[in-house]
Amino acid sequence: MLKLQHIQKSFINGRTKRAVLNDINMEISKGDYIAIMGRSGSGKSTLLNILGTLIPYDKGTMIYNNQKVTQLSFDQRSEFRKRHIGFVTQQFHLLHDRNVYENIKLPLNFMKLEKDKIKKEVNKVLEMLDLESFQKVSISKLSGGEQQRVAIGRAIVKKPDILLVDEPTGSLDEESEKSILDIFDMLHSQGTTIVIVTHNTAVSERCDKNYFLKGGKLSAPIIY
Ligand SMILES: Nc1ncnc2c1ncn2[C@@H]1O[C@H](COP(=O)(O)OP(=O)(O)OP(=O)(O)O)[C@@H](O)[C@H]1O
Ligand SMILES: [Mg+2]
Repeated sequence: MLKLQHIQKSFINGRTKRAVLNDINMEISKGDYIAIMGRSGSGKSTLLNILGTLIPYDKGTMIYNNQKVTQLSFDQRSEFRKRHIGFVTQQFHLLHDRNVYENIKLPLNFMKLEKDKIKKEVNKVLEMLDLESFQKVSISKLSGGEQQRVAIGRAIVKKPDILLVDEPTGSLDEESEKSILDIFDMLHSQGTTIVIVTHNTAVSERCDKNYFLKGGKLSAPIIY
């Protein structure tokens, strides 16, 4: 489904150039439930952002269903992302002055769907994430765990081929953590391909494949 071949990525800070990813090879198949682990600063978010076509890389090839994403223009990449990728970033990036319903509906505004269909899809997600009673509440009034659920809702409402999630349990208590992880389990059982970046073993234990990122290199996957 999605393949990375010999991916390299460096960041330049002032005069120093630092390699973050060095010759990354990875293959994501349909239905995969993957955890990418590694210490803080090891490049996990960078790798996930590359998978989600949010940032460019320096060298290598990325292939999606036999098409080279590398060769797409900026606009084509954004179109690709809208159509295929659901992304829950580490900072959520929700619209704080809008309510829960509007935030989850957002990705559907870019699709040519009928009003009734949009309402139906958003309501389905609200129900799935237990957010019905919050739908009129603005984001700024929600707790971290509630915002996390809205961010997941926004990422899945368009039924993406791949769901990418960056550190989903960072600031959650054990019970909220479990309810978020149960949602991923459910989405996975419904056929969604999921890649989660985390340093939490409670997350990686639920996944079928675990990768480790260290010194810019990605380990061979451990498959459960
Ligand atoms: N836009 C940027 N410009 C310069 N350096 C960057 C940029 N983004 C990331 N880096 C550097 O790249 C390295 C990897 O960052 P990254 O955010 O991918 O780590 P991470 O594994 O996600 O860490 P964490 O677990 O803390 O979220 C870090 O040293 C970081 O400072
Ligand atoms: Mg990170």
